[in-house]
Amino acid sequence: MTTAPAAPAAPTASAASNTSPAIAPVPFMHTALLPQDIEAATAVLRSGMLRAAGQCAALEVKFGEMSGAKHAMTCANGTCALQLAYEPLFQPGDEVLVPAWSYVATASMLAARGCKPVFVDALPTTGQIDMADAAKRITPKTRGVAATHMYGCPVDIDAVTAFAAHHKLRVVYDAAQAHLSMYKGKGIGEFGDAVTYSFYATKNLGTGEGGLITCNDDVLARDIKLLRSHGETDKYVHERIGYNYRMNDITGAIGLSRLARLPQDTATRQANAAKYAKLLAGLVGIEPLAITTGAVSAYHLYTVRIDPAVFSVSRDQLSKELMTLGVPTAVHYPRSLPDQPAFKPYLADQKPCPIAQRMAQTVLSLPMHHMLTDEHFATIASALKTVVTRFAR
Ligand SMILES: Cc1ncc(COP(=O)(O)O)c(C=O)c1O
Repeated sequence: MTTAPAAPAAPTASAASNTSPAIAPVPFMHTALLPQDIEAATAVLRSGMLRAAGQCAALEVKFGEMSGAKHAMTCANGTCALQLAYEPLFQPGDEVLVPAWSYVATASMLAARGCKPVFVDALPTTGQIDMADAAKRITPKTRGVAATHMYGCPVDIDAVTAFAAHHKLRVVYDAAQAHLSMYKGKGIGEFGDAVTYSFYATKNLGTGEGGLITCNDDVLARDIKLLRSHGETDKYVHERIGYNYRMNDITGAIGLSRLARLPQDTATRQANAAKYAKLLAGLVGIEPLAITTGAVSAYHLYTVRIDPAVFSVSRDQLSKELMTLGVPTAVHYPRSLPDQPAFKPYLADQKPCPIAQRMAQTVLSLPMHHMLTDEHFATIASALKTVVTRFAR
């Protein structure tokens, strides 16, 4: 079984599966700390300096450098990161274009700001935000785009940049799943008004909970820092209303320690993605999502589409069968955002997003992490071949 926790965004072993596999399953993810991570956290504990201090500051400097951004601000989690990025850029009543195919927080934090999330359909090839569809949904009230680099794959940043420049929109990229992803040879921190990250336990850089915002504008960085800590400009002087969304130094130390390995771990994920692509090229009905032209994915997840026209059983049944063959899978996500009850109040005048709805029916994430071995790949290859042989029409 995978070690997947029950928290909302965590990949879990196929929810549908309760059948024990005949062989030791391939781990769906790998979240274990190394001794040096534990030592880094323990050193903070020994120091007694638990609040955000040197470790968080060092994590900010390093993560900013590695992402191509001038400013980096740690915070409590990826949801806070979105809230801290949105609040200075958008006003209540603004409409913001947001992908129908994303994790809930990308859109719910717009709603929390009093904005209207306007859902944009996905590209059928990549599953990323479709900027041609965005153009059809713009209104005089539209003030921004919040685009998610889903699964670790950057969106078509050139298209977003051109669209935003033309319509004078602010841009936030949700990179919760896309640490160290690249676009046209540059770190994704170079683009947009702000980029947000999650360090949730299962993310490529996992600290348990944690988040970070990058940006390249000095004024915005100051705003975000003020919002993060009660608008405090001097001890007990509060220039504006803010929150306590700070990280702490235990988390910072774990993040900094893991960040040292992240480039290598990411390269291993990318090599594993290449192995998957080769494997799937020979199989009918299981198709990897395409990568945006010019993008380098961090492969937080390796997500394929199951073609319902090819198989005589459902995607969920295939997932169960794969589990019995030692391959846990997960569905990211089983509903598109407009199909979430929470967003119903915003949908009255919004057209459906059929591609995103179809993704919810067809996607399946296969095991992806930096500790997959050749034996794991042999198990995965054999399981995939078996289900194709058994269930392809
Ligand atoms: C795309 C996306 N955005 C935002 C978040 C929220 O991050 P957190 O769980 O750290 O609040 C997640 C977490 O899964 C995510 O995947």
